[in-house]
Amino acid sequence: MSRFRMPTVFFLPAMLLSAVAADGLTVKAGCKESCGGVDIPYPFGIGADCFRPGFEILCSSNTSYLAGKTTLSSGIRVLSLSVMPRPEVRVLLPVAFQCFTAKNRRTGYSFGEVDFNPVGVYRISSTHNELFVLGCNTLVYISSGPTGRYRYSYYAGCVAFCNDSRSAQDGACAGVGCCRVDIPPGLTGNSMHLQESEGTWSHIDQEFSPCDYAFIVEKGGYQFKVDNLTNMPTTQAMPMRLDWAIRDSDIQSTGPMYSCAQVVNKTGYTCVSNNSQCVDSTNGPGYICNCTAGYEGNPYLLNGCKNINECARPEEFPCNGECHDTEGSYNCFCRRGYQSDGDPKENPCNPKFSRTAKLALGLTFGVSLMIVAILTTVIKLERSKRKELFRKNGGKALQDVTGLVIFTKEELKKITDNDSNFLGKGRFGNVYKGTLRDNTVVAVKSSIKVSKETKDEFTEEVKIQSKMIHKNILKLIGCCLEVDVPKLVYEFAANGSLEDTLYRRKRPLSLNLRLDIAIGSAEGLKYMHSDAPLVIRHGDIKPGNILLDENFTPKISDFGLSKLLTLEYCIADSVVGPFAYIDPVYRKTGLLTQKSDVYSFGAVLVELVTREQNDNGQERIKRFCRLYAEQGSAQAMFDKEIETDEDIFMLEQIGKLATECLEEDTHNRPYMTEVVERLVMLRRRRKHGITQDRSGPEDTITNGSESTSASVLVPSTPDCYRPT
Ligand SMILES: *[C@@H]1O[C@H](CO)[C@@H](O)[C@H](O)[C@H]1NC(C)=O
Ligand SMILES: *[C@@H]1O[C@H](CO)[C@@H](O)[C@H](O)[C@H]1NC(C)=O
Ligand SMILES: *[C@@H]1O[C@H](CO)[C@@H](O)[C@H](O)[C@H]1NC(C)=O
Ligand SMILES: *[C@@H]1O[C@H](CO)[C@@H](O)[C@H](O)[C@H]1NC(C)=O
Ligand SMILES: *[C@@H]1O[C@H](CO)[C@@H](O)[C@H](O)[C@H]1NC(C)=O
Ligand SMILES: *[C@@H]1O[C@H](CO)[C@@H](O)[C@H](O)[C@H]1NC(C)=O
Repeated sequence: MSRFRMPTVFFLPAMLLSAVAADGLTVKAGCKESCGGVDIPYPFGIGADCFRPGFEILCSSNTSYLAGKTTLSSGIRVLSLSVMPRPEVRVLLPVAFQCFTAKNRRTGYSFGEVDFNPVGVYRISSTHNELFVLGCNTLVYISSGPTGRYRYSYYAGCVAFCNDSRSAQDGACAGVGCCRVDIPPGLTGNSMHLQESEGTWSHIDQEFSPCDYAFIVEKGGYQFKVDNLTNMPTTQAMPMRLDWAIRDSDIQSTGPMYSCAQVVNKTGYTCVSNNSQCVDSTNGPGYICNCTAGYEGNPYLLNGCKNINECARPEEFPCNGECHDTEGSYNCFCRRGYQSDGDPKENPCNPKFSRTAKLALGLTFGVSLMIVAILTTVIKLERSKRKELFRKNGGKALQDVTGLVIFTKEELKKITDNDSNFLGKGRFGNVYKGTLRDNTVVAVKSSIKVSKETKDEFTEEVKIQSKMIHKNILKLIGCCLEVDVPKLVYEFAANGSLEDTLYRRKRPLSLNLRLDIAIGSAEGLKYMHSDAPLVIRHGDIKPGNILLDENFTPKISDFGLSKLLTLEYCIADSVVGPFAYIDPVYRKTGLLTQKSDVYSFGAVLVELVTREQNDNGQERIKRFCRLYAEQGSAQAMFDKEIETDEDIFMLEQIGKLATECLEEDTHNRPYMTEVVERLVMLRRRRKHGITQDRSGPEDTITNGSESTSASVLVPSTPDCYRPT
């Protein structure tokens, strides 16, 4: 292995001393750390045993110089030295020049050459410097490298020319008075080749630019000024950067300088520090030393590479979590409860919810909040609306009425199971079946829409109805006022209306049952007319408004036209419903009296015995009355189902009472009290006197208190109303 003979430089006494980094410094122990503001790291050094051969620095008058072959006076001034991260020396090198008289006589010149590189450790940095040429008719180039096709391997230069004194421009270095060019790598010297002033390159009559200048300068270190064509001193020096490397060679064999592959772990290997590594030079042969990742300091000294406390330099070594320095590295963890999508050195630590979970959580929270807000608002609005409706529908006046239950909207919904059980159409809207909590079956009806004007009327109406407590009057249980149209809750009549029973269900109806229905209805009406706490009239008595419960007990319903009756009669606002049962007097005068109800009841009685529905023209009633007037009986019209020999008298008596109720002269009509008495008497007579009872099973019903009145009906001549 003759090629790898130990280089002679390794036997220099300096190398036998162990170079150890002074604590925190990068200079050899006991050596001068700096000179004139320039730090001197090993392998550079001032004084014996302080530098590696080839890296000696001279210190004079607070100024550092490279120790070259030149004398100190013309020595190369050092601006800075560095080992890490780049091996670099900044020096001031003289400018090359040549000057001429107007007659083209050369008055002075310098090629600028200085021997800064006695051992060959330096190369002019090709990446950080550039070549400038100033002049108005000149060509300058540099040459370098080993001999190639010509004397050197590299040539680089440029031409500067001016047409006249005004040609050059400040800052413009593109051939007019100034040119510049990048330089090739591997330059070991700064010697300039200046074109001789002859022929086309003559400087005759060129007073505006008597000198040519050429220099290598660090990038950004020089800005062209037109003045410099005349004012630049010939002693001018320019800052320039030199790359350096360990370029040991077998001097005796003048073989190639060693690269890392040839020196690592061999005797004389320069990267002596722990945690250091060898890196091949990029500008010229040789190698440099570097601290490995996580270390810094001086790899050329024993223990020169020190661990970096990364945690103290967060800008260089980021950590988004908790930082822990380790030998040669550092750990970065997210705090407990936090996590990162990747390495927390690069990615932020977030609370231990995944981004999506967080997003979802945030969204959920936000949406929930929104929903709550909306709901709250809606509920508030709903509540205030309900309150408003409650007020509007007379809630204030009704909430203290005894026996009247005020239902909330929800309660009502529950009661009707969301209006699932449709019963039929009432006068103002649908009627639904419902069940109270105590299993009482009820009917829920819409009332009329209440306005400011009708509010008092409505509340009065409800009050009246709630006070009508009689087994033959459909009981008003409660109401709901929180809705647009108030709802009224009534007791439920399982068998529907008398109208249904007579004409739609076509079931057999015994005379007893018919009598019971007649008596019950009359009792209810009588109660309204006289016995109730308030004297009222119904105004719309008809089979459709007489409801029958599961026992066929009649219940007078629909107080739609009922009015508080404080006087004998009042003016009714309107007449609603079919005219079949309406008192013609009432129709003519608009005066609704109790006798109007009596008339309507008479019409119902006629239907009970004939089972034929009245017509709007009341022709049937007229015929009925006519038959009585002409024949003393309306036998021809009686329902054949009940018209038996035994019952014919009974039917005639009922029919007669009906005709009296239908009298034209209201004064001749009986009061309901009398009607009840006479009907009850008829039933009693039937029970005691006539025993043939062919009634159906329903006839077991006993209906109400029987009047004890002893007055006996004295039939008068019927005088039915005849319209004029
Ligand atoms: C060199 O500089 C130091 C401080 O910067 C100063 O104290 C010293 O006098 C200087 N020496 C010379 C020779 O200028
Ligand atoms: C070049 O110089 C000549 C003579 O001095 C002058 O006449 C001419 O205008 C100049 N041309 C430019 C482009 O400056
Ligand atoms: C170049 O000219 C400018 C302006 O006159 C001057 O300030 C500067 O020092 C000159 N530069 C050199 C290197 O002579
Ligand atoms: C140098 O020696 C060290 C330990 O002594 C070893 O880990 C390393 O791999 C060696 N390097 C080369 C290039 O042989
Ligand atoms: C450096 O290496 C030496 C031996 O070569 C060893 O004794 C010393 O502990 C090492 N120092 C560090 C910090 O690893
Ligand atoms: C020296 O090592 C550091 C850290 O490992 C690296 O960033 C740098 O580029 C290296 N320098 C050279 C010249 O290889």
